[in-house]
Amino acid sequence: MNDIFEQVEKNIDSLAAKHVDWSACASKEQLQAARAGKLKLQLFDKDVPDEWLADIKGKKVLCLAGAGGLQAPLLACAGASVTVIDLSSKMLEQDRKIAADEKLPIEIVKGNMCDLSMFDNEYFDYIINPPSLMYVPKLSVVFRECYRVLDKGGVFILMAPNPINYVCDYIDDENGGYYKAVHRMPFCSMDYDDSGWIEYGHTMEAYLGGLIECGFLVNGYVECQMEDITELYFMARAIKN
Ligand SMILES: C[S@@+](CC[C@H](N)C(=O)[O-])C[C@H]1O[C@@H](n2cnc3c(N)ncnc32)[C@H](O)[C@@H]1O
Repeated sequence: MNDIFEQVEKNIDSLAAKHVDWSACASKEQLQAARAGKLKLQLFDKDVPDEWLADIKGKKVLCLAGAGGLQAPLLACAGASVTVIDLSSKMLEQDRKIAADEKLPIEIVKGNMCDLSMFDNEYFDYIINPPSLMYVPKLSVVFRECYRVLDKGGVFILMAPNPINYVCDYIDDENGGYYKAVHRMPFCSMDYDDSGWIEYGHTMEAYLGGLIECGFLVNGYVECQMEDITELYFMARAIKN
C-alpha cells in the first residue's frame, strides 16, 4: 500500500514541477481581499459558496491534501488558524514560501490523509479538501479519520470527481471523435495503464454514502462542469453529527 502513496507523491511532485493549473498559488490580490474580509476560496474551478465559510475567522482549519499555496494562505489571511497536510514536498514548499513571505502562521505537515494520527480527536472546526480523493484507494479510511479529528458540529468540505470522469474512453474518428461509456466503477487506472499514473474512480455511493455511513450529515452539494462534459466535479458539505 505504501508503494501506491510513494508513487502518487512522485507523480504529484513531477506535475507540480511543471506548474500545472492546480498548483497555482494565491495571488497578492486574492490574499489582500481575504485579509479585508472578502475571502474567495476556489476548489478546482468552483468557488466554495460564501455561506459555507461565513464564520471561518478564528476557526481551526485543516487543509487536507490541500497544499500548493492556494487555499491555506487564503484561509490564514481570512483569520483562520490553518494546518495543511499533503504528501507532496513540492506542493508544500509553495505554502511554506507564501507563509514566510506573507508572515502567515500556517502549520505545514508532510503526511498521508489516510493517517491523521498526529492530530488529536475533535481538534479541527473545518476540514477543506480540494480534489485529491481520486488518489486514495479506500475513501472510508479518510472519512473515518476526518470524522475523528473534527469537533462536534465541525464542517468537512470536499471536492472530488464524479465517476463520469472515469466511465468513458475517448474514441477518435474521422468525424471528430466521441466518448464511449466503457468502464464500470470502481475504476483504477493501473488496470489499464502501466505508466505509473495512479488514480481511482470511486462511486457516488462511496462518496456520499460513505460520508453518511461515517456519521456525517451531508447538507450542501454543488457541481462544476467543464467544457469537456465528462469533466464533472462535485463539492459537498458534511457536518459531524
Ligand atoms: C489536485 S491537487 C489539489 C491541491 C490544490 N491546492 C487545488 O487547489 O486543487 C491534489 C493534492 O492532493 C495531494 N495528495 C494526493 N494523495 C494524498 C494523500 N494520500 N495524502 C495527502 N495528500 C495527498 C497531492 O500531493 C496534491 O497536492
